[in-house]
Amino acid sequence: MSHSRRQFLSLVPKVALAGAALSQLGGCGGGYNVDGSVTLASGKATLLFTQFPKLATAGGGAIVGLDNGSAIAVVRTSDTEATATSAVCTHEGCYVEFQSVSAGFSCPCHGATYTSAGVVTKGPARENLASYTAALTATGIVVTVS
Ligand code: FES
Repeated sequence: MSHSRRQFLSLVPKVALAGAALSQLGGCGGGYNVDGSVTLASGKATLLFTQFPKLATAGGGAIVGLDNGSAIAVVRTSDTEATATSAVCTHEGCYVEFQSVSAGFSCPCHGATYTSAGVVTKGPARENLASYTAALTATGIVVTVS
């Protein structure tokens, strides 16, 4: 086996694991599912409609993994507006799941619920999700995370 082939083969499991981690971070019973992942640039996450088609029309929502290990929840609340919050449940850190603009988010781990704006509507979570600025563009939604 050549050196380069050995190097390639040693990378395969890592690449496979990275892909699995991005699609289901943690993997404990669905508490960490994401619709896709993006890389932050200067504290901003750019969610293109081509990558997140659910956000292209009013009523859609997506859970988006970030390269800093966290995740955001983004909702297209109308033709002209979007909201963004942390997707990390304030109870014990599972990722929330989007239900609808009116029903908001639910947490698959212990049943907490939040509005689309991240306000707790049912425990055991006690604190609201952190909110971020979301700006619609012609091609996507830009979320300022930090
Ligand atoms: S981690 Fe969300 S309700 Fe427990």
